[in-house]
Amino acid sequence: MSYKEPTVEEKIEKLRKLRETAKLGGGKERIEAQHKKGKLTARERLELLLDPESFVELDQFVVHRCTEFGMAEKKILGDGVVTGYGTIDGRLVFVFSQDFTVFGGSLGEMFAKKVCKIMDLAMKVGAPVIGLNDSGGARIQEGVASLAGYGDIFFRNVMASGVIPQISAIMGPCAGGAVYSPALTDFIVMVKDTSHMFITGPEVIKTVLGQEVTFEELGGALTHSRTSGVAHFVADNEEDCIGIIRKLLSYLPSNNMEDPPVVETNDDPSRMDETLANIIPDDPDKPYEVKEIITRVVDSGDFFEVQPLWAPNIVIGFARLNGKTVGIVANQPSYFAGALDIKSSTKAGRFVRFCDAFNIPIITFVDVPGFLPGIEQEHGGIIRHGSKLLYAYCEATVPKITVILRKAYGGAYDVMGSKHSGADINMAWPTAEIAVMGPQGAINIIFRKEIAKAEDPEKRRSELIVEYREKFANPYIAAEKGYIDDVIEPAETRPRLISALEMLATKRENRPAKKHANIPL
Ligand code: HXC
Repeated sequence: MSYKEPTVEEKIEKLRKLRETAKLGGGKERIEAQHKKGKLTARERLELLLDPESFVELDQFVVHRCTEFGMAEKKILGDGVVTGYGTIDGRLVFVFSQDFTVFGGSLGEMFAKKVCKIMDLAMKVGAPVIGLNDSGGARIQEGVASLAGYGDIFFRNVMASGVIPQISAIMGPCAGGAVYSPALTDFIVMVKDTSHMFITGPEVIKTVLGQEVTFEELGGALTHSRTSGVAHFVADNEEDCIGIIRKLLSYLPSNNMEDPPVVETNDDPSRMDETLANIIPDDPDKPYEVKEIITRVVDSGDFFEVQPLWAPNIVIGFARLNGKTVGIVANQPSYFAGALDIKSSTKAGRFVRFCDAFNIPIITFVDVPGFLPGIEQEHGGIIRHGSKLLYAYCEATVPKITVILRKAYGGAYDVMGSKHSGADINMAWPTAEIAVMGPQGAINIIFRKEIAKAEDPEKRRSELIVEYREKFANPYIAAEKGYIDDVIEPAETRPRLISALEMLATKRENRPAKKHANIPL
């Protein structure tokens, strides 16, 4: 039979068929199995994530080159990952979406090359990368080539860190060394019940240690959001997960050379709020909810909290003031009295560094009695971990504005965005208490002998506490020295913050040239 050149129409028809085949991934049965697990397919997820009709796929025809274990006969167009670019709210993003219906979404050489390609493009043009993870990990049949592929992605994750935002969604398994790519990105969103992350799974743990643990207990969304702090957000389901990513992106610039998008607001920048004065209790030892203060101050009460379940003694998250993104860090008096500990220092330290990398001003609300005392904290390395937060504040050159609401005691005063850590504007409410330590502790140390000698030691102690409180537990000594730029009424917090942000909009501050710094890890 002689060869007959296909017509142009036939060639186009072939292309269309190939595309149809590629779109089916691992086939209808596996797609159904995916749906039965309550999971969407890689492509369905992208459809939800990106603006309608905006997705442009790359490398749809890529297949693996593995010949071991009968793999030569099992080639699936796309090789288990859908990659490309599209828009979210009209802004360019690059995406990869692992396809569990193809070899369990496992990563081999060509799969990794596809991911690397979009990461390289994202770096060249300065746009975020969003990875949707659902994978059995390293493709066992491809051996070291798959490990190399992971390594190539890790390297790019690190190169992209601080240049473009990187966001990971975990929407299925994510095990072994595979977890390190998401871990190197800026934010991890996990879906409740269907996603897991761990280095070694329950079976290995049982074999090696004889301990029994379920997938969920070991590495489910709640475990990583409450216990380990690996995840930043928990989503109720996949739609929620996509919604979280879209909202998160709305606060972020596309790269480190740009400012975050400005969103129009109906919230008056000069809006005063008299109710702010009623939140802090008269009794300085009583807790209150700091998020009430945050939501009353920011635009339209919209505070997008990051890592709400882990280390709740510090609150971090994004909000807007007069339409502009700010990163908020606040001690939470209703948990551990807002004391800083290992977890909260690490949590806030990383957040401050993210904001600094991406030109997001940092607003700090302070009510901190000090560092959490305890053997566990000391032996766990509170010295090393606490210094991370101090380091992050000192290093940050974005506009930094601090409002001391109530307590700012001891080393924690210095750490929490103090003037001395390079904050630009420091304000205090009249309720602020700024001192080396709280009245009880201070009196017990400096007047121990006098109290012991007193006729009625308890009476004398109370008198001295009152004296100390009057003298030191206020913002005016710090204000006298210029450590506090102004003492403001709670009601005027919003307009004062907005005015400071406007004044600081053109802030430029340099740090000494160096290869890189050495944060106490
Ligand atoms: C090749 C894999 C695979 C893998 C799954 N599959 N994982 N193929 N390499 N790593 C295939 C399965 O053979 C199966 O193919 C299909 O994907 C679906 O898998 P199932 O097991 O049927 O699905 P399910 O019951 O939902 O279980 C999912 C799973 C399980 C929990 C992910 O497949 C699993 O435990 N896989 C191995 C996970 C793992 O240990 N990976 C290595 C981690 S170490 P068929 O054709 O039968 O349907 C690692 C190192 C990275 O990743 C290092 C980087 C530096």
